[in-house]
Amino acid sequence: MGHNNSMKIITIESITALLHRHGFDEFLQDLIDALRRDFGHWDKFSKMPRPSMHVPGGVLELMPVCDNETYYTFKYVNCHPKNTSHGELTVVATGQLARIDTGYPLLFSEMTILTALRTAATTALATDLMSRKDARVIAIIGTGAQSEFQVLALKLVRDITEVRYFDLDEKAMDKFAKNMQGKFAKLTRCKNAEEAVQGADIITVCIASKTHAEVIKNDWVKAGVHINGLGGDTIGKTELEASILPRARIVVEYFEQSFVEGEIQRLSEEEAKKMVHAEIHELINGTKKGRHSDEEITLFDSVGIGLEDYSVLRLTYELSEKYDIGLDLNLIPILSDPKDLFSSYAEKTKTQEKGNAILTI
Ligand SMILES: NC(=O)c1ccc[n+]([C@@H]2O[C@H](COP(=O)([O-])OP(=O)(O)OC[C@H]3O[C@@H](n4cnc5c(N)ncnc54)[C@H](O)[C@@H]3O)[C@@H](O)[C@H]2O)c1
Repeated sequence: MGHNNSMKIITIESITALLHRHGFDEFLQDLIDALRRDFGHWDKFSKMPRPSMHVPGGVLELMPVCDNETYYTFKYVNCHPKNTSHGELTVVATGQLARIDTGYPLLFSEMTILTALRTAATTALATDLMSRKDARVIAIIGTGAQSEFQVLALKLVRDITEVRYFDLDEKAMDKFAKNMQGKFAKLTRCKNAEEAVQGADIITVCIASKTHAEVIKNDWVKAGVHINGLGGDTIGKTELEASILPRARIVVEYFEQSFVEGEIQRLSEEEAKKMVHAEIHELINGTKKGRHSDEEITLFDSVGIGLEDYSVLRLTYELSEKYDIGLDLNLIPILSDPKDLFSSYAEKTKTQEKGNAILTI
């Protein structure tokens, strides 16, 4: 497994190369399968609700998980909704995969793109388990960084004929239309969220705003619709009118974390326990059903959990080995005597004095 001391570094260039080599849809499909496998082994994992640190303008989060067999992973991620106003992404992330037998790290990766992919694959998995089999029309509200990944992943689980979209920012809608041109039979630009959800079978909401926004009103939600709520994912940040919740069959990823961060944060613990139908792993292992009739309204109240990052990091590691993609760098000292860490410092100092190029990488 891996190289003894070197660690694989996956940059943006590496992940782009990997996606082109393996295929974008193939990566998403493999990821959906990996998520199904990993959620299917839910009890095997050591996990915790992510620790979040709220700072002015955003939140900083660390997401660890361990499979107690082979790998441990963690992701660092933020959400700063005002970043785009000065040309920076709302969500950026990096992450690491380590072997658990020795604790040695194997891979350090960009995770801004991997987060968009794993979030889209998780939504697709939930939509497959919860939406009507004949769902054809998607509405997407919020056409920012996550949006294209979201709709392309849904295309892998349902025969999508139309994507109706809306964003407060006209430029974000222009960008979405350009990127998605030719990918769907019909792309419909809408004047507001209400128009976007008209006739939609699947509604995906992924806006970024640190407030209790009511992007979707209860009145607009018709029987049989499936909703994916992605942007209600930290304290004080939700997207749906609260009166939608009692009407919907609600599925979450991980109750302990979702209760603090999801749409259900507005409920008392007692109400939430009563109203939440299942955690997604229960739909995968078949103990509960995602949908009971064509008429009911279903809601995947997504917040994003460490297990999803584990699945995508593991897949990325396996594919990067297969295609020999990534940069192998020494981030762990190579020592003839593992107790003599100090000599490594002294040696390195000597090489540094000689101006060794390796140290300036
Ligand atoms: N659940 C998860 O696992 C997960 C993972 C990643 C991101 N997210 C969340 O998804 C959301 C979107 O992330 P992103 O990276 O695409 O952000 P982004 O800033 O790139 O895009 C968000 C878009 O929402 C639009 N918007 C804001 N308020 C709106 C409103 N009221 N109506 C319509 N449009 C509105 C903005 O104009 C922007 O284009 C964020 O809230 C983020 O926290 C969730």
